[in-house]
Amino acid sequence: MDGNGRWATKQGLPRTEGHRAGEEALFDAACGALELGIEYFTVYAFSTENWRRPHEEVRFLINVIAAQLLARRRDELHRMGVRIRFIGRRDWRVPRWVVKRMDEAAGLTARNKALTLTVAFNYGGRAEIVDAVRSIVASGVAASKIDERTIHRHLYSPDVPDPDLVIRTSGEYRVSNFLLWELAYSELVFTDVLWPDFRRHHLLEAVREFQARDRRYGTTGQREEGIPS
Ligand code: FPP
Repeated sequence: MDGNGRWATKQGLPRTEGHRAGEEALFDAACGALELGIEYFTVYAFSTENWRRPHEEVRFLINVIAAQLLARRRDELHRMGVRIRFIGRRDWRVPRWVVKRMDEAAGLTARNKALTLTVAFNYGGRAEIVDAVRSIVASGVAASKIDERTIHRHLYSPDVPDPDLVIRTSGEYRVSNFLLWELAYSELVFTDVLWPDFRRHHLLEAVREFQARDRRYGTTGQREEGIPS
């Protein structure tokens, strides 16, 4: 959800107003995902690197995420059949009251089936892989028994399928430490739209672009025999 700061600056507003407007965009995009029948929708709300931002902005972001999504929107999303999940590190930097609200939202919505909305908070793709390796080592699995499925099982949300489509907003062309393991074969769509301006019709446009892609997963796209991997 990139471009909040630039959107606010363009309007002559403080950067934090961009994050507030970004929350509205997220809600509309989630509604769009529901309408399109998308089952899994994951948003990058706060990265392990975002702690380096000015203290005031960090505090505001945590409050927007915790107070808006977890308090104001929680029941609305619940009524819409949305299952809310969080991925990321729960280290000492995340206030305990925020962790409590996250658990409450996840618990309340756990049985919902219409859409799984995963919020990546204090999330880093490399940190996720490090955590998976730690968990594998702690479980005592023999090195020779570790394969891709083992790593997959130790990621934060092993029951969520790898993303088919990743949308990066605001004219940036980077992955920025998002779902590094999971997006190995995802289709990437880039848009110049700044996140606060993003609406469900932009999601539909990205899905249309995705539908025109030819996904070959390393094959030629023809029926092949080949050597099993
Ligand atoms: C990146 O834009 C955006 C963020 C770091 C925060 C995203 C958070 C929200 C949209 C708030 C709502 C989220 C939830 C889960 C309720 P930027 O600040 O890097 O913008 P810039 O690149 O223009 O500076």
